[in-house]
Amino acid sequence: MGILEKHGALERNASLLLVTSLLVVTVGGIVEIAPLFYLESTIEKVEGMRPYSPLELTGRQIYIREGCYNCHSQMIRPMRDEVQRYGHYSLAAESMFDHPFQWGSKRTGPDLARVGGRYSDEWQVGHLINPQSVVPESVMPKYSFLMNAEIAPTHIVEMVETHALVGVPYTSEMIAAAQADFVAQADPNADTSGLLARYPKAQVRNFDGQAALTEMDALVAYLQVLGTMVDFSTFQPVASR
Ligand code: HEC
Repeated sequence: MGILEKHGALERNASLLLVTSLLVVTVGGIVEIAPLFYLESTIEKVEGMRPYSPLELTGRQIYIREGCYNCHSQMIRPMRDEVQRYGHYSLAAESMFDHPFQWGSKRTGPDLARVGGRYSDEWQVGHLINPQSVVPESVMPKYSFLMNAEIAPTHIVEMVETHALVGVPYTSEMIAAAQADFVAQADPNADTSGLLARYPKAQVRNFDGQAALTEMDALVAYLQVLGTMVDFSTFQPVASR
């Protein structure tokens, strides 16, 4: 009896099909799930990853509030077309401090996982104020009101503490300095040595070009850090080390 005829017996007997499918699913399930119980971590440790600075974290909240994830993903898949367009595929570690993660499931606009550093602050601000001024056919809404929405570090301590609660390694020193760091990152005249020690390579400047500290500063600070923490000129996946 050939393999096809044997399979024919399965297809004609509903109970047998049910029992054997359950068997297959059970074995498959055990093979996938069991290792998770003894693997210490499924996330490969990667150099360069650090928690978001208070200002970046605030920008991230604005990103979530405005629903940017409805049109933008932050997850570059390991496929050639994506890697050529967006850069190195996303690593699990790159979203380990994201609560909730912003992988998204819709790409009306491009993936933003590595948009940090791709454009100048002026471009980002001009684009957010009026996307059609840069890309005439864009369907992206205007976010000019962010320029007028002034922000102060009123709730930043609670926000950082909440992220610490769910496992982001914010230290007590980071929490104590959160309000000062929040303001310092957008102030080119501030003493930022503490900020840079706590958040290595944090970009410090007046992001929106206005005197006031606004939601635009925070959002652009967040966009400019996306995908820049891991140095891919030196990164090597575990398998090829
Ligand atoms: C209705 C869908 C939609 C929403 C909502 C949306 N965008 Fe976009 N976005 C687009 C489209 C389409 C493009 C491509 C055309 C363009 O550049 O405007 C784009 C482009 C971008 C780019 C340039 C990306 C690149 O690599 O060229 C950035 C950055 C960006 N959006 C950020 C945001 C942020 C931040 C928000 C939320 C405040 C947001 N978008 C909300 C649709 C959207």
